[in-house]
Amino acid sequence: MSVKKICCIGAGYVGGPTCSVIAKECPHIRVTIVDINADRIAAWNSNELPIYEPELEDIVMSCRGKNLFFSTEVEKEIIEADLIFISVNTPTKTYGVGKGRAADLKYVEACARTIAAVSKSDKIVVEKSTVPVKAAASIQRILGANMNLDIKFQVLSNPEFLAEGTAIQNLLHPDRVLIGGEESKAGKKAIETLSEVYSNWVPKEKIITTNTWSSELSKLAANAFLAQRISSINAMSAVCEATGADVEEVANAIGMDTRIGNKFLKASVGFGGSCFQKDVLNLVYLCESLNLPKVAQYWQQVIEINNYQRKRFASGIINCLFNTVSGKKITLFGFAFKKDTGDTRESSAIYISKYLLDEGAKLAIYDPKVSRRQIISDLSHPTISTPEKVAELVTSVTDPYEACKDSHAIAVCTEWDMFKDLDYKRIFDCMLKPAFIFDGRGILPHEELNSIGFHVEAIGKTVSKGSAFMVQSNGNNILSPTSRVLP
Ligand code: UDX
Ligand code: UDX
Repeated sequence: MSVKKICCIGAGYVGGPTCSVIAKECPHIRVTIVDINADRIAAWNSNELPIYEPELEDIVMSCRGKNLFFSTEVEKEIIEADLIFISVNTPTKTYGVGKGRAADLKYVEACARTIAAVSKSDKIVVEKSTVPVKAAASIQRILGANMNLDIKFQVLSNPEFLAEGTAIQNLLHPDRVLIGGEESKAGKKAIETLSEVYSNWVPKEKIITTNTWSSELSKLAANAFLAQRISSINAMSAVCEATGADVEEVANAIGMDTRIGNKFLKASVGFGGSCFQKDVLNLVYLCESLNLPKVAQYWQQVIEINNYQRKRFASGIINCLFNTVSGKKITLFGFAFKKDTGDTRESSAIYISKYLLDEGAKLAIYDPKVSRRQIISDLSHPTISTPEKVAELVTSVTDPYEACKDSHAIAVCTEWDMFKDLDYKRIFDCMLKPAFIFDGRGILPHEELNSIGFHVEAIGKTVSKGSAFMVQSNGNNILSPTSRVLP
């Protein structure tokens, strides 16, 4: 069987770009992306797509209405499709057993139930969403409960490894495509059918097949390893600040060892995004459920260090600003969780804002791709701050120079390239003195800023003399009695 019609349920950051690329590379396949959110579908059908991703717009515009469609008619499109991607969100549970750690599979289950209820022909059902190991078994059981015994469903696991901001390039040139399925004859046939779709543009040797559980676990493992590298280099950044070592030099030195490799070694304000924290917590929960508490604790530390790094950065700002930020204007450069995206989910900037707002700071936030509405909504979340406090203390500014006017300090939270090229002399002149810059992403020209007159602090290195950031001038670290650490 070769695929003629694909339906993707979930028009989000994963489903949207993935299926747009499939449509581009497979003009002979009709691809429809469905979603229960009518506003989102309307946006996909408009000139202003609901997500920002470099190169995405060109692809959507060239395929939309030809072999790429966006629709809210979920059931109709399921009935017509040979192959269905489930690409709905699997957020961390906020209630009941596993609250705060386990993945909430209610949307995935709802999709499986709808597919079971409305299907009139055989289908391949593909888990694209990141799920705990063995989720495919639950989907298969629900589908198997379809009363029409003539219909056959095959469930495959085909996790997505794209990173936001580079989604299209990742999809066009993937390191690998992973497909997991049953070892039965029908399972192998389904794997082959999906492989055929990808082989329209992905070299055969990059399409790897495994059993279902390996595929599901590989996705969690990949994200856990990547997150762990960031926590490892961030943990080292604290050691650097306490010793005079420079984290960039350390990263360069260890990254040249081909066994370690040089990617994902950038010290930062901590990782954000919708996946890393969710998937590591999901893995922790899985290990606990499997009665592997030591393994669970090991992965939990990746999250602990990430939280520690965010607090450490905010504490450093407060320490430097003479131990109080109350009523002081602080400019945040960047609010998205990384550059080249407008996505703010789990962005470290949210948590840094929270710590500074708790201390009464006034925040002027500038991000080239995040809307004022999004910033206010993120900071007004009950776990972060109150709408009243946000209205009183937060302004979102559309011009970076304006954002710095009369400010005590700038904190770089997102590594947007444009921050490297601003006129810092002009910025310095309009700030209060001493003017501080806290480079949470290690992207600014520190020496140049120093010579303009800024007091510069950067994660994992000592730039300005008499640093009071993480390291006190007497050489004690953040835990010294003279420095403040947030609770
Ligand atoms: C999601 C998951 O979070 C991630 O675990 C997985 O790897 C891929 O899918 P993302 O695409 O970023 O990632 O999520 P999101 O942008 O929230 O999109 C999910 C979409 O599914 C939403 O537009 C939502 O409206 C839709 N949805 C959800 C349905 O269409 N039906 C449902 O029953 C539930
Ligand atoms: C990640 C995985 O990379 C991707 O394979 C998976 O499918 C989804 O989760 P994403 O979250 O979109 O992708 O972005 P990524 O580039 O991995 O960055 C995640 C976070 O880590 C960002 O906040 C980023 O700024 C941070 N990061 C990344 C660092 O702090 N240092 C680094 O060296 C790399």
